Amino acid sequence: MTNWNLQDQASGLRQMAANQPRTTRVVAVTGGKGGVGKTNVSINTAAAMAAQGQRVLLLDADLGLANVDVLLGVRARRNLSHVLAGECTLEQVIIEAAENLYVIPAASGTQEMVALTAAQHAALIQAFSELDRQFDCLIVDTAAGISDMVMSFARASQEVLVVVCDEPTSITDAYALIKLLSREHGVFRFRIVANMVRSLREGMELFAKLSKVTDRFLDVALELVATIPFDENVRKAVRQQKVLLEAYPRSPAAIAYQGLANKVMSWPLPQQPSGHLEFFVEQLVKRNAYGKAAGE
Ligand SMILES: Nc1ncnc2c1ncn2[C@@H]1O[C@H](COP(=O)(O)OP(=O)(O)OP(=O)(O)O)[C@@H](O)[C@H]1O
Ligand SMILES: [Mg+2]
Repeated sequence: MTNWNLQDQASGLRQMAANQPRTTRVVAVTGGKGGVGKTNVSINTAAAMAAQGQRVLLLDADLGLANVDVLLGVRARRNLSHVLAGECTLEQVIIEAAENLYVIPAASGTQEMVALTAAQHAALIQAFSELDRQFDCLIVDTAAGISDMVMSFARASQEVLVVVCDEPTSITDAYALIKLLSREHGVFRFRIVANMVRSLREGMELFAKLSKVTDRFLDVALELVATIPFDENVRKAVRQQKVLLEAYPRSPAAIAYQGLANKVMSWPLPQQPSGHLEFFVEQLVKRNAYGKAAGE
C-alpha cells in the first residue's frame, strides 16, 4: 500500500468521524441554596472547555435575576417559549457567546419544558433532533431550591455538580437536594464543588461536613471535584459582564475553574447509543417513576 493510499484512508476516516453524531455530555449544575455560585461555575466551566476546543452549549434553566445572558453580556431576543409556540427554530434561539460557546437563554420556556403536553414534548424533542450544530457538552445552570424543574434537569443529566459554600444553610440545602434526588429520582452520584473557600483545607472540611451526613443517612457517592477560592475577580468580572477566564485569566478562581473543566472532560462519555441531545430532552420530559410528570 502506498503512502497515498494511507493518506486517503486517514482523511476518509477523519471525514467519517466528522460526520458521526457527537456524544454529548450533559452536566447539571445545582446547589440547593441560592447565591452559592452555580451560575459562575456553569459559565466559567463552559468557557474553559470551549477555550480547549470543545463545543459547549449552556442551557440557562434559571429564571432568576443574574441570567447567563446578562453575565455573558449577550442579548437574548428569543427563547424556548418561542420554539414551543412554533414561532422560531431552536437554532434561532441559540446565541453564540464566544468561539465554541453557545447559550440557550432563560425564559418561561425552560420552566414549561418540564410540564408540557404530549404534543409539546414531541415538538421539543423534534426541535433538538433537528439541530444542525452538534455539541460535546451541555451544561445546565439550574435554579436555587429543590423544585420539580431542578429535579428534572438533574435527573436527565449524566453528571450532577453540587456547588456548596461555607454557610450552614448551604450544607443543609445541599443535603436536602441530594436526599431528594437519591430517594425519589434515582441519582446516586454527586460531584461536589466547594466554592468561595479561603483555603484548600477549608474546601476539604466543607466536603467532609457534607459527606459525614450523606454517608450516615443516604446511599450515595460523593466526590470533591473542585475547590474554588473566594476571589474578588469573580465579582469584578460579573460587574463587567465578562467571562472571568477572559477578563482575569490568571486569577486564582480562573485557574480553579480550568481545573474543574479538565476534570469534566476527563469523565467517561455517556454510553447511550445516540449521542444526540434529544436523548437528554427525552429523559427530561419523560414521566418519573411515580407516574407523575415533573411540574404537575
Ligand atoms: N469564587 C467566588 N469568589 C467570589 N465571589 C463569588 C465566587 N463565586 C460566586 N461569587 C459571587 O457570588 C454571587 C452569587 O454567584 P452566582 O450568581 O454564580 O450564584 P448562583 O448560585 O447562581 O445564585 P442564584 O441561586 O441566585 O442563581 C455573585 O455575586 C458572584 O459574583
Ligand atoms: Mg444562578
